[in-house]
Amino acid sequence: MPVKISPSILTSDFLELKADIQRLEAAGADMLHLDVMDGVFVPNISFGVPVISSVKKHTSLPLDIHLMIDRPHRYIRQFAEYADWLGFHYEAGSDVEETLKKIKKSGCRACLTIKPCTAPEEIFRFLPLCDMVLVMSVEPGFGGQSFLPSALDKLSALRDEAARRSLDIELEVDGGINGETAPLAAKSGATVLVAGNYIFSADNMRDRVKEIKSL
Ligand code: DX5
Ligand code: ZN
Repeated sequence: MPVKISPSILTSDFLELKADIQRLEAAGADMLHLDVMDGVFVPNISFGVPVISSVKKHTSLPLDIHLMIDRPHRYIRQFAEYADWLGFHYEAGSDVEETLKKIKKSGCRACLTIKPCTAPEEIFRFLPLCDMVLVMSVEPGFGGQSFLPSALDKLSALRDEAARRSLDIELEVDGGINGETAPLAAKSGATVLVAGNYIFSADNMRDRVKEIKSL
C-alpha cells in the first residue's frame, strides 16, 4: 500500500488558501491536514472552526483535523461537523476513552495523538478505539522543525502492537517530513505522512507529492 499524503496548510498564505488547496488537490494530496492551536496546549495560535468551515466548502478532499487544544472534549461536536478524521492529544487533559468514543459517535474517524515525550506503550490500551494514531515527530506548535528520529521506534512499536492484536489502524507521522525522512517513517510503519514546509516550499507541489509517495 502506498503511503497517503496529508499536506498541512499551516504555512500557507491564508489569503491564498483557496488557490493553495486547489494546487494541493491537483498535486495528488490524499487529505488535508488542519492544525488547530489554542495558545494554551501549545505556544502558538492558528485557526479554528470558521476557517475550517470555509476550507470544507472549497475541497472534496477528506479533512484531517489535528487538535492541539486544551481539554479537547469540549469542542468535538463543533469540529466533527467538518472533519473526516478528528484527532486530539493524549496529553491534553480530556478523558481519552470518552473523547475517542465521542468522535466515533459523531461519525468521524478517531485519531489519538502523542507528543515526543509520550511512550507509545502508554496508549496501547486505547488502540481498539482508534482509527488512526498520530505520532508527532516534532514538538507540536510550529511548522518547519527538524524530524526527531525517536518517532521511528514509536511508529514500529505501534505497528507491531496493532498487528499483534489484528487491529486495522492508520499510523500518521507529523513534523519534519521531507525526501530523507519520509522513507524512514514509511519503513517504520507510517501509512499517512503529514508534510507542511516540504510541500509548500516546492516550486512544483505535484513533483514533491509524487516524490514522497514513490519513496
Ligand atoms: C506542528 C504541526 C505540523 C506542522 C508540519 O505542530 O502539527 O502539522 O505544520 O509542518 P512541517 O512539515 O513543516 O514540519
Ligand atoms: Zn499537525
